[in-house]
Amino acid sequence: MNKRTFLKKLGVLGAASLLPSVHFAQSPTQKTPFTLPKLPYNYDALEPHIDKMTMEIHHSKHHQAYINKLNEAVADKKVDNLENLLATLTEKDTAIRNNGGGHYNHSLFWQLLSPTPQAPTGNLLSLIEKQYGDVAKFKEAFQKAALGVFGSGWAWLVWHKTTGLQICTTPNQDSPTMTNLYPQYKEHTILLGIDVWEHAYYLKYQNKRVEYLTAIWNVMNWQEIGQRLANAK
Ligand SMILES: [Fe+2]
Repeated sequence: MNKRTFLKKLGVLGAASLLPSVHFAQSPTQKTPFTLPKLPYNYDALEPHIDKMTMEIHHSKHHQAYINKLNEAVADKKVDNLENLLATLTEKDTAIRNNGGGHYNHSLFWQLLSPTPQAPTGNLLSLIEKQYGDVAKFKEAFQKAALGVFGSGWAWLVWHKTTGLQICTTPNQDSPTMTNLYPQYKEHTILLGIDVWEHAYYLKYQNKRVEYLTAIWNVMNWQEIGQRLANAK
């Protein structure tokens, strides 16, 4: 099942259907169609790995700001759904690219974190072992890619039905779901995305991105990542 079929099967929006607390829902008649999703845990739930203040500011200020600016950017448009909007963006659509991407990426990111310690299992573990050797080597490769993001951006793990897992990065608030801008990911499903903007870690880790990227594995929601793979297949 390719990405578009998968999303279609899930309804209005694949990620939203998988993640019921994420609100991408919108009405063309509303002036502010996008709203901030509630976190599935408390702001302090990821302590000590991600601190309460970072989570609170990241969610209630940064994510909210993307939503506010996205609502302004789509005020004159009839918006079908966010994922379709992102998939058809061109180089000229700067405001929606930055703020729609910001809303999409953060809504997904919150779901990929969990206060419950866990590890990859099942098909996801098998794929990781087949392609990277073991989970530690996968984490090493992912961290290397994330450290290589110059300035602000995201590191991703995507999956394709024939080529399997792939680690990639995007600048700013771009994501592999922007398939007109990134046609190489047209048939891919996002399994994991990690925010490597400084606002995600600066209060606790300052400039030490490597420490943030080491700690974040302690709060990774592998169950959710595995479920996204299962749904993609
Ligand atoms: Fe962020």
